[in-house]
Amino acid sequence: MIIENLRCEYLSNPLGIDVLQPRLSWELREERRGARQTAYAIRVATSRETLLAGKADLWESGKVESEHTFHIPYEGKPLRSMQRAWWSVRVWDEQGQPSEWAEPAWWEMGLLTPDDWKAEWIGAPIVGGRRAGVPCPYLRKEFTIGRSIRQARLYITALGLYDASINGQPVGDAVLAPGWTEYRKRVEYFVYDVTQQLHVGTNAIGVILGDGWFCGHVAWWGRQIYGEAPRLLAQLVILYENGETQYVPTDSTWQFSTGPLLEADLLMGETYNARLEMPGWNCPGFAAEGWKPVQVFAPWPAPLCARIGPPVRRKEELSPIEEPRQVSNWPMPTWIFDLGQNMVGRVRLKVKGDPGTTIRLRYGEMLKPDGSLYTENLRTAKQTDTYVLRGGDEEIYEPLFTFHGFRYVEVTGLTEKPSKDLITGIVLHTDMPLTGTFSCSEPLLNQLQHNIVWGHKGNSVDIPTDCPQRDERLGWTGDAQVFVRTGAFVHDIESFFARWLQTVEDSQNEEGAIPPVCPNPCPAMVGTDGGPAWADAIIICPWTLYLCYGDKRILEGRYASMARFMAYLEKTAINGIRCHPEYSGFRGFGDWLSTNAETPLDLIGTAFYAYDAFLMAEIAKVLGKEEDEKRYRQLYETIRSAFQRRFLTPDGLLVSGTQTACVLALEFDLVPESVRAAVAKALVHDIRARGYHLSTGFVGTPYLLHVLTREGYLDVAYRLLLQRTWPSWLYPVTKGATTVWERWDSWTEEKGFQDPAMNSFNHYAYGAVGAWLYQVVAGIDLDPKSPGYRHIRLAPKPGGGLTHAEASLRTVCGLVRSAWRIEDGRLLWEVEVPTNTTATAILPVQSDADVLEADRPLSESLGVKLREMTSDGVVLHLDSGQYRFLAPWSSTEPTRSPVDK
Ligand code: BGC
Repeated sequence: MIIENLRCEYLSNPLGIDVLQPRLSWELREERRGARQTAYAIRVATSRETLLAGKADLWESGKVESEHTFHIPYEGKPLRSMQRAWWSVRVWDEQGQPSEWAEPAWWEMGLLTPDDWKAEWIGAPIVGGRRAGVPCPYLRKEFTIGRSIRQARLYITALGLYDASINGQPVGDAVLAPGWTEYRKRVEYFVYDVTQQLHVGTNAIGVILGDGWFCGHVAWWGRQIYGEAPRLLAQLVILYENGETQYVPTDSTWQFSTGPLLEADLLMGETYNARLEMPGWNCPGFAAEGWKPVQVFAPWPAPLCARIGPPVRRKEELSPIEEPRQVSNWPMPTWIFDLGQNMVGRVRLKVKGDPGTTIRLRYGEMLKPDGSLYTENLRTAKQTDTYVLRGGDEEIYEPLFTFHGFRYVEVTGLTEKPSKDLITGIVLHTDMPLTGTFSCSEPLLNQLQHNIVWGHKGNSVDIPTDCPQRDERLGWTGDAQVFVRTGAFVHDIESFFARWLQTVEDSQNEEGAIPPVCPNPCPAMVGTDGGPAWADAIIICPWTLYLCYGDKRILEGRYASMARFMAYLEKTAINGIRCHPEYSGFRGFGDWLSTNAETPLDLIGTAFYAYDAFLMAEIAKVLGKEEDEKRYRQLYETIRSAFQRRFLTPDGLLVSGTQTACVLALEFDLVPESVRAAVAKALVHDIRARGYHLSTGFVGTPYLLHVLTREGYLDVAYRLLLQRTWPSWLYPVTKGATTVWERWDSWTEEKGFQDPAMNSFNHYAYGAVGAWLYQVVAGIDLDPKSPGYRHIRLAPKPGGGLTHAEASLRTVCGLVRSAWRIEDGRLLWEVEVPTNTTATAILPVQSDADVLEADRPLSESLGVKLREMTSDGVVLHLDSGQYRFLAPWSSTEPTRSPVDK
């Protein structure tokens, strides 16, 4: 068996871990069907040599009978700050055969105690105002290295953003670091291996500070929300060959100046005057004339923590899809570049011209009918970069401390007609590995999938956000909750969400309420209670991570916070009703952006309250908290009864007949079995009355197609999915959308642009339909009893006239794949079940009689066991391996709507 992809705390060979018992994971690969792990042994040593010599001087787990391959906690000797641990693993297969030891991997501990920090917070005493920005401080320090070194690490963070370089070379490839946390509760630091960047003799370290979220504009709230000016905390730790250590910490000996970066703001953009460049400022020997001593600040009150998960990086480059078009000539020639994709990031400008020429770049997601840039929906976000040429040779400029949401770039200030290679789009997002793929026979659905993926990228710049373009870009809890299941298919979001959920907890108020946005630096602007479907992210997101990645620690870690949130709900509910009309607090955003369908706030509130109680019981069960489990189950029943008393008529009608009301009642199992069919029927009636259009907003949309499928209306689900007229998922696609829009009608043929006060073209919430594409159309799902895809459910449900569909998902156990095709009256279904997992596969045909697997009858096929026949199809149990099923296919789809009959 091949052991690969060794990871510690989500990452391969991570630097700077401050979890005292880091968790170790690996993947197995073996073509033999049914190959599985029956035991493992882990060795951890202080060096690679020691490990290879078979001496596990930190931890020897011994042979552990276990099938588990992920999140195994380290249980060896306590680890010290900055200590590197080398590790390897071997496994025994189902025949008791041991594997080779895996190629060693390592992790390195960060700074575990405050005493490890020798550095002081420093910065420049230049302070702007609530609306006015100031030049970015450049900070530098020279130092001497006396003899040859063994290793060097840079521990660095900022209140604001940092860009560090040593001897003129950039340190690492993270951008917008250290990112955004609830700074008053914790600040994250990064660790870099800079051994190769130092030399014996004089060296220099330089850092540029940007305002970032700390003191730049945040949402519509102005600047300086957390502090007045950016600050830096860093220490270089140099270990000599002879074992001595030298520190180069930030302190009063550093100097600062301002330079070419005259303004840098996440929302507003940057101004860079290349004539003010200071060549060599971050190299030794620079004549730092006019540089002044930095200001030293008192310690920042919040603890320093190691960064969780990968940073934001430059992930892709996009070239304009056509030559730029001139859209006006007055007062200046104005050119529009089209990158062909609504993206998030910035551009690299390649330009040549006279000194002092000023180029202005503005960014927008759409064009107006006259071809000019549409910027109205940006509200107060200027999204404008200004570059002043140095003159002479070709100049290359890429903004440093900003990002924009755009497809089109408007360029002014050029004296000659530009060619399309003037700019290149640089796509930025948190570096989450892409894990899922989906494609099918309907090109519009493939474009929808593309839009979902791009919406996810663009709204994952350090934290999950609502939008990347206007003056908002906030960590809306509702949006994240709505999208999390789909997100967990598209990308590996485990660490991204684990990190953000820490922020959610950090944003919780004393009463236990969870705000609508996290971080929430400005409770006065958005409140402290996010209301139903928003605040509930604190329970729904960790549960989803547990299901998708088997991450139990996320449940343990957040449990106290979830319990406090539940206590808050219990305290504020009136007779079991959340958001009761008599409740004086915030009653929620409702079914945000629904279409002509008002679902009562107390119905949504109570439905989510019940769902929370249900999930809390499940979570308590996983964590072995029996008392809590019992209590939450009772609470769920109490809320369910309250829901029925208030919202359900004896005839099985909901007082609100909206699609969302029906969907929530069915999805969260809030109505008695006896009336389920009636509620489902009412849902379908509403859909049909609207000409097969949905009316759901953010709250109901993610569950809509799942509910229809479960209640026997697969065809209605497909009809909604494939609907091309407004409101529908495909309407924007038919209008050329390359990301998911905020509103079903962000732009329509009849009315043009929606209200610019709230009209993002890159909002991922409605992309939550992705989960249905993967779980139902392609049929890849998990088994909640075996989280992390240890046991997989494969059950595609062909329909909607599709002739093929396929999806793949790189899980923590390896690659799962499901691909079906209907051809010549036969269904061909290929599946891949990763090593060390099993699957329940439901072949969507009505008889097993003529089914073949790899040209053999099922009974002769290795690794396949026939379980039963159900109305969904032939149920099989599969061992790991690759399979190829072939079955006769009749054109009638297996599931038909009771209503349509
Ligand atoms: C955001 C949403 C958010 C909503 C809540 C909007 O401004 O863009 O995505 O969930 O506010 O009201």
